[in-house]
Amino acid sequence: MADGNISALQVARDEAYSTPLDEIDVSLGERFQSNTMWPFFERLRHEDPVHYTAASEFGPYWSITRYHDIVAIETNHAVFSSEKGISIDEQPDDFTLPMFIAMDPPKHDAQRKVVSPIVSPANLQNLAPIIRERAGKILDELPIGETFDWVDRVSIELTTQMLATLFDFPWEERRKLTYWSDLTTIESDTLTLEEVRAELMQCAFYFQNLWNQRKDGPPGDDLISMLAHGESTRDMPLMEFLGNILLLIVGGNDTTRNSITGGLLALNQFPDEYAKIRADPSLIPAMVPEIIRWQTPVAHMRRTAKTDIEFGGKTIRAGDKVIMWYASGNRDETAIENPDAFIIGRERPRQHLSFGFGIHRCVGNRLAEMQLTIIWEEILKRFPVIEVVDEPVRLKSCFLRAYRQMKVRIPARL
Ligand code: HEM
Repeated sequence: MADGNISALQVARDEAYSTPLDEIDVSLGERFQSNTMWPFFERLRHEDPVHYTAASEFGPYWSITRYHDIVAIETNHAVFSSEKGISIDEQPDDFTLPMFIAMDPPKHDAQRKVVSPIVSPANLQNLAPIIRERAGKILDELPIGETFDWVDRVSIELTTQMLATLFDFPWEERRKLTYWSDLTTIESDTLTLEEVRAELMQCAFYFQNLWNQRKDGPPGDDLISMLAHGESTRDMPLMEFLGNILLLIVGGNDTTRNSITGGLLALNQFPDEYAKIRADPSLIPAMVPEIIRWQTPVAHMRRTAKTDIEFGGKTIRAGDKVIMWYASGNRDETAIENPDAFIIGRERPRQHLSFGFGIHRCVGNRLAEMQLTIIWEEILKRFPVIEVVDEPVRLKSCFLRAYRQMKVRIPARL
């Protein structure tokens, strides 16, 4: 059993195997919300790994569900382009936010080069003690013997503090970063599309202001200074600047946030592994990539075919949307042994697709791993166990595998 509610998963399994193959649509947000999409992916991997869905909420699309097929698409960026968008959902034409994750070479490569130094090994070493101190403070303030929301108190707070550090963002206003990130990823119940856009423009102006202050100063080692002084980014139009800022906020926020939550959930669902890590915290560096694989915070990325191409015995036409389901590739038993299980100490724990592959492979991957390593070191120093007391509340989205709430209780301190 992968995780989640066992009977709901059984019902989903029956449905997955009784639906006519050509009617299978794995993009339904409800299934991700109830965490019951797994048997649908399993069937596609076995019976139709390059699968065409003719009609969905997002229009027609191809599903790539096997590990090695995803790698093949990612490495063929001459045919499979990122420029038309990176999620199954279309970006509205009148409000496009250019970002390098959605660009092809050579522009992609030039802009990526500017951002990469912030996450260089040397810079990460500088950040590590700050992250450790901040993580410790957040954990020391947690209540003992009371139920509280892990997502809000720990996962969001920690990643937000981290981002504020990266941007050298005004400290007291750091929750603005969470707010802006959520605007782009969580469907708002209260704001109209126009209002969301207006809020994002506020975000753009806020950062433009910081940009203006920093571009006239000496080159600093925070992200905004780097973009303001970088040769290929310093003359960026406002919308492109906003796009790249949001890319870094979302890239560094939701993903790490949901890995922090998902890791605790995994340990609760696999108590033997929890006991193992408690007994030997030196296994944390091996556990962290397994958390990231098991969670797969980004469920898919999209490419668009630039020309007709034969792939996996099918003809993908120019202009077709191709969805690489990392969530499925990471559960592909032909690439990863016993993939539904959470196992600390796999032989090659970093062999997974959660960070993508090829030229777009996550630029922040080492930073994310470092954050998770530190937080788990600090957790295990303090709390013998943290109990998940209820099924978490998941986001209705086939793009981000995200948690909106997870109730936990810490019985005692060490
Ligand atoms: C567990 C945490 C994370 C996960 C699962 C994750 C996942 C991903 C994925 C799937 C991609 C696209 C890969 C592809 O298309 O092949 C990506 C790209 C990217 N990520 Fe992350 N990410 C994480 C953390 C971070 C952090 C902490 C940052 C920021 C500092 C970040 C910044 C970026 C950027 C800028 C890109 C675009 C890279 C490019 O297009 O060249 N990510 N990430």
